[in-house]
Amino acid sequence: MSSKSDQEHSNAGSARGQPAGSPAAAGSTVFPRGFLWGAGSSSYQVEGGMHEAGRGASIWDTLCTRAGAIAGGHNGDIACDHYHRFKADVALMKQIGLKTYRFSVAWPRVQPDGTGPANSKGLDFYRNLVDALLNAGIRPVVTLYHWDMPQALQNRGGWLNRESVRWFADYSSHVVAALSDRVQDWITINEPQIYINLGLNEAKHAPGLKTSLREQLLATHHTLMAHGASVMAIRGMAKKPARIGWAPVGRVDYPADESSAECIEAARASTFAVDNLGHWNNTWFGDAVIFGEYPQDGLKFYGANVPRIEPGDMEMMKQPLDFYGLNIYSGAPVRPGTTGKTEPVAHAPGHARNALSWPVTPESLYWGPKFIYDRYQLPIVITENGMTNLDWPDVDGKVRDPQRIDYTRRYLLALHRAIKDGVPVLGYFHWSIMDNFEWAEGYKDRFGLIYVDFATQERILKDSAHWYKDVIASNGATLAPAAADACLGFGLPGVNKPTPVRV
Ligand code: FCB
Repeated sequence: MSSKSDQEHSNAGSARGQPAGSPAAAGSTVFPRGFLWGAGSSSYQVEGGMHEAGRGASIWDTLCTRAGAIAGGHNGDIACDHYHRFKADVALMKQIGLKTYRFSVAWPRVQPDGTGPANSKGLDFYRNLVDALLNAGIRPVVTLYHWDMPQALQNRGGWLNRESVRWFADYSSHVVAALSDRVQDWITINEPQIYINLGLNEAKHAPGLKTSLREQLLATHHTLMAHGASVMAIRGMAKKPARIGWAPVGRVDYPADESSAECIEAARASTFAVDNLGHWNNTWFGDAVIFGEYPQDGLKFYGANVPRIEPGDMEMMKQPLDFYGLNIYSGAPVRPGTTGKTEPVAHAPGHARNALSWPVTPESLYWGPKFIYDRYQLPIVITENGMTNLDWPDVDGKVRDPQRIDYTRRYLLALHRAIKDGVPVLGYFHWSIMDNFEWAEGYKDRFGLIYVDFATQERILKDSAHWYKDVIASNGATLAPAAADACLGFGLPGVNKPTPVRV
């Protein structure tokens, strides 16, 4: 995802705060009561156990064999060996005090060839993981698709084949049949924008193809229908009431000058625009799923490349959802341009960045949820947010990661501000629970709260994990910065002052 372009310490605990989704109390950094503090991972990035219990090959296994595709020639064969170490990993999650954990199911463990009966042994891993989580008091959130499509289905065209809609619904049913007596929270698909662009346009992610724009939009069309078909499968089969959402990503532009209404509207307009060939947008995906229609500007922009829409396609995409997941790492400051078009505003030289050079922009976790809530009117869950940092164990064996702590504090304060301003936010999943296989970047990028030594599989809780534990235990109260005039953002040269945090 690296190349996806250029938030009163006490015993507060769960009794504190206000009901979930209601505005947080003014003058404090306490989150609503019942706020879901979590962390996340995905199957291919952490599991390993590639050949266990009849697992089939995925498109990521294949891509990892292509020379030069992955930094360091790395692959997910062992990854964090979570497949074998999940019990110890869940014990670490409990130590951190996580309320919830988001993980994904590997389709090729459930259906090694992508279709047909469920491989019960493959599903056992997830049954056992869910049991371990529930025993630890941690709520499981299951993502059905986080990019590891069975290779056998890719051989039949993958998302380019209209049959993929039926394949995904069928796979979803197998997982729901196995887990829905214990799992209530479901995410259909993770970041379609990224696998369409990097997988089928730039060839940097699996399946590593460069296809035409027309084909990319066809694969998107099937993805969005598959999402809808999966929602119907979950609602139809779940043994307990289900809460269903999805986890898209997209451009978050924010106003360079918050005191200007024009600037705010310019940022909203470009956040919702479909105007680039990298699928870096919100509305082509979100409008289809929430409104059952593609946005007008996108239809114009893509022109003759828009796929043929069969009767019932858009209705299938538009299924009632319980929450709108948002993966937000970064955003871009903008202002109204002289030509009527929104224009970008450059950060100051030396602006804070993560180890992949993504700018650190806490404002994005205020404006992103706000704009999306304004448009789609669904409760928000931050399904991913975090940073890659150059972490290593100090000579005393501790892993000190002050930048990740500061990043997360600023972003969570921004999210708290959104909640105070009326955006219903149900939860926050830090990416990631542990260092893992960062796709085309291999193991060089460390996003975890837990340090993983990939040679020995030793785990060390980073300072950020200890810090996050206090944040969770205090329901956000420990986020309050020591200085009364602390600032959320970093400010922009000649445009504005950083957003102050008033606590
Ligand atoms: C997101 C992916 C996740 C991880 C983070 C850093 O795009 O969903 O798997 O790679 O970025």
